[in-house]
Amino acid sequence: MYRLAIQGGTPVVPAGSHVRWPVLGEEERRAVRGVLERGVLSGQLAPEVRGLEREFAALVGSRFCLATNSGTSALHLALIGAGIQAGDEVVVPAFTFVATAMAVLHQGAVPVFVDVEPRFFGMDPAKVEAAITSRTRAIVPVHLHGVPCELQPIAELAVRRGLVLIEDSAQAIGARYRGRMAGTMGLAGCYSLQSSKSMAAGEGGLLVTDDEEVYRKAHAARMFGEDSRPEDEASYSLAHALDGNRAYDSAAVGWNYRTNELSAAVARAQLRRLDHWNAQALASAELLGRRLRELPGVTPPEVPADRVPAFHKYRVQLDASKVGVEAQPPAVRDAVLRALRAEGCEVVLWQTQPVPGQTLFRKMEAASAGRPDRRVSYDLAQYPVTRAILDRSVVLFSQTYPLAPQPPALVEAYAEAFARVWTRLPEVLAR
Ligand SMILES: Cc1ncc(COP(=O)(O)O)c(C=O)c1O
Repeated sequence: MYRLAIQGGTPVVPAGSHVRWPVLGEEERRAVRGVLERGVLSGQLAPEVRGLEREFAALVGSRFCLATNSGTSALHLALIGAGIQAGDEVVVPAFTFVATAMAVLHQGAVPVFVDVEPRFFGMDPAKVEAAITSRTRAIVPVHLHGVPCELQPIAELAVRRGLVLIEDSAQAIGARYRGRMAGTMGLAGCYSLQSSKSMAAGEGGLLVTDDEEVYRKAHAARMFGEDSRPEDEASYSLAHALDGNRAYDSAAVGWNYRTNELSAAVARAQLRRLDHWNAQALASAELLGRRLRELPGVTPPEVPADRVPAFHKYRVQLDASKVGVEAQPPAVRDAVLRALRAEGCEVVLWQTQPVPGQTLFRKMEAASAGRPDRRVSYDLAQYPVTRAILDRSVVLFSQTYPLAPQPPALVEAYAEAFARVWTRLPEVLAR
């Protein structure tokens, strides 16, 4: 009979057995050295930036790709490229990272949050339809945690209602939905290259589109609204990397959303191992899922037949009532988290409230109360599924030690630790 670590037993997962993310090897070092030796650190036509754009466009099968300094700026550029304007409404999920909604605010547009469905944490198509008004211009579904959301009905809805579809694939680089790469099914798709993501470049983002107008508008907005055309590449010279034939004539409001050569070079090295890490994460997710599914009341992420997830996060839902334990879901969640951490597991919550619960949106709702023409409703009662998921789930592994690079023996140890903790839930809760 074992003793749990919270009861003084030996932790199941030995200290020091996790692999840290991002995994940086000789390829990244060589890439960075190459940039330093070349001496060109930036420029939207510089070789690493353009190389990254070409390689990523080829990887996902898109006509155009723009590298940016963050996933958030890529989302903002996609909205600009799609012609979203101040006052337009953009439908986003209530369960996402704040950046999805923040990009909408950057454009002066209004995020309208809808609740998600509990299987893949994607926006609920029926609720998207109900949220559409005469001011709605776009829908931004999110492939949360790297699992593609149920996109088909949302894409059909967008076509039927004449709305723009932009995919937030920040967490789903390399994932597939019905054979198509996540991020390539709408007018534009956006990805993040921030350090925790599957292609970690420190900071950075990517926008892909097949639409030349979206590409050109986003291209200009990335650099101060200048019409610095992609064709200019023909006259780019490394010897005059900081000069070139720039017109210095802004035709519209723009930003400086360019990335830099060091980040782009690291991203290119990471791109070469993307398939490897995604495949390893999927194999581990399946292994762990098989073990966790044996425990009543424990729901690990599903891998549906029509999707290939790129497991960025591994969220496990808990229902204590299925093992005859009556307790508030957050109390169960927090007790399990503490017990698993004591067993040596990395466990996080990654957000505890729907995005519209954040102070910014509370303030926006309060400020809009006296303005019937600008009224926004961020009543949290509208997002019961998001709240239930957050109240009753934990994320196994963390951003510093995610699932993808961990060896199978460690993943097995997580399954063992979880089974021990869940089987002794009353004792875990009593602590
Ligand atoms: C779902 C989602 N959207 C957008 C972003 C924004 O990306 P970045 O942090 O690169 O701006 C993130 C990053 O965490 C994300 O998880």
